[in-house]
Amino acid sequence: METKIFYSKEQLARFFGDYLSSLTQENDQINIALSGGSTPETIFDVLSQEYRETIKWDRIRFFWGDERCVPPGDPESNFNMTHQHLFSLLSVPEKNIFRVKGELPSQEALEDYREVIAKELPSKEGLPLFDVVLLGMGDDGHTASVFPHEIDLWDSSELCEIGTHPTSGQKRITLTGKVINNAREIVFLVTGKNKAEKVDEILNEKEDYQKYPAARVNRDKSLWLLDQEAVIS
Ligand code: 6PG
Repeated sequence: METKIFYSKEQLARFFGDYLSSLTQENDQINIALSGGSTPETIFDVLSQEYRETIKWDRIRFFWGDERCVPPGDPESNFNMTHQHLFSLLSVPEKNIFRVKGELPSQEALEDYREVIAKELPSKEGLPLFDVVLLGMGDDGHTASVFPHEIDLWDSSELCEIGTHPTSGQKRITLTGKVINNAREIVFLVTGKNKAEKVDEILNEKEDYQKYPAARVNRDKSLWLLDQEAVIS
């Protein structure tokens, strides 16, 4: 596991922009699963403003690690957030965007996305292979949309599952652990004071840390990008 700590979200975003620039210089095609929530918004704003030319955007095929079961125009939609903060400001070819169809009933959205990732991605060890999986972490230690109260979803034999937000009850489609851990590289983007306690427990393997889904991510492939607020000094 590698950990990098940044003074600010913007500095973290620039590191990630340089990381993506290198990847798209060295590869003709990159399959990436994006994370959702609010953290990526700032990252995407920096990328759309400062990395328009340096990242070869037409080489990236965009998927999601998880998506809320809402229509694509809903403020809660991770696709909608990405469209507003990234896609609408860059010329990302429509054919390279593979969103979860959150407008469908959740079981249909699940089955559709299972087919999409099985069909559209190369395979390694018999599983869909992402070049990069971007992950966030909730202040309860969830990642993607595998929450602590249903951590068994992480070990599902399926490629993705339906998660349920513990307080809102919102249904979400999420990749499962075996797909996330099959990726070439996994990058956590975690910022903010409210994450610091769980970051400390997980990175320092404190008592019971394995009860958090974020702790189940393959540590050998994980790069944690943190701002100072997310680190207990
Ligand atoms: C989502 C995410 C989720 C997110 C964490 C952190 O759909 O919300 O994919 O796993 O990464 O909840 O969210 P914040 O960045 O908003 O704290």
